[in-house]
Amino acid sequence: MTLFRLDASIRTDGSVTRAVADAVEAGLRAAAPGTPVVRRDVGLRPLPATAWSAAVLAPEEGATDRHRDATALAGRLADELLDADVFLFAVPLYNYGVDQHFKTWADLVLTDARIQQERALAGRPAVLVTARGGGYGPGTPREGWDHATPWMRRILGDVMGLDLQTSETELTLAGAVPAMEALRGLAAQSLADAHASAAGHGTWLARALRVAA
Ligand SMILES: Cc1cc2nc3c(=O)[nH]c(=O)nc-3n(C[C@H](O)[C@H](O)[C@H](O)COP(=O)(O)O)c2cc1C
Repeated sequence: MTLFRLDASIRTDGSVTRAVADAVEAGLRAAAPGTPVVRRDVGLRPLPATAWSAAVLAPEEGATDRHRDATALAGRLADELLDADVFLFAVPLYNYGVDQHFKTWADLVLTDARIQQERALAGRPAVLVTARGGGYGPGTPREGWDHATPWMRRILGDVMGLDLQTSETELTLAGAVPAMEALRGLAAQSLADAHASAAGHGTWLARALRVAA
C-alpha cells in the first residue's frame, strides 16, 4: 500500500503547495502510519524536456540510444504510478498555465500505453494540491485566466481516470505584493481552507488504503 507524491514547485522555502501537500500526507500518516511514499520532485529535479519527442517517435526497428533511454524513462515513470495505490500531486500555477516540468512529466508518462490506452489507474484515489498568486474566481477581473487547474483535472481525472479531489489556495502573493494588501484577509482564509481540506483529503486517502488492503 503505497502513496505516490509528485511536487512541482520550483522552490522549497515558503512553498504553499509543498506545505499543503505535507498536510495531506500528515493526515494520511495519522490514519495509516508507516505508509511507504514514493517521491518524484520535478520542481527540483526536472525531467529532460526532449525525452517526450524521442519516446513518441521511437521506431519499432532501428531505435537509437536516445529513443531507448526516453522509452525506458517513460516506463519507469509509469511503473511509479502503477505500483502506487493513492496519489498526491502538488503543482503551482505559473504564467497562467501548467507548470512546464509537470507538463513534461505528464507528456512522457502518457506515452506509456498502460497509462492512457489501458487506463490501468482508473478509479484510484488522488489529491491535487495547487496554489496561485492571484485570484481567478467568478466576477474577478482575471476570471478564467487559470489555464492550469482545468487541464490538470482533465489529465489526472479524465484521461488517467484517477478519482480526484483538489485543495486550492489563491492569492498567495498577497503578503508580498503591496498592491494586494487589501486581499490579505482573503488570502489567509484561502490558505486556512486549503489546509482544512488537506487534512480531510489525507484521511480519505488512508481510508482508501484500508479498503484496498
Ligand atoms: C515564474 C512565476 C510565474 C508565476 N505566474 C503566476 C501567474 O501567472 N498567476 C498567478 O496567479 N501566480 C503566478 N505565480 C505565483 C505562484 O502561483 C504562487 O507564488 C504559488 O504560491 C507558487 O507555488 P508555491 O508556493 O508552492 O511555490 C508565479 C510565480 C512564479 C515564480
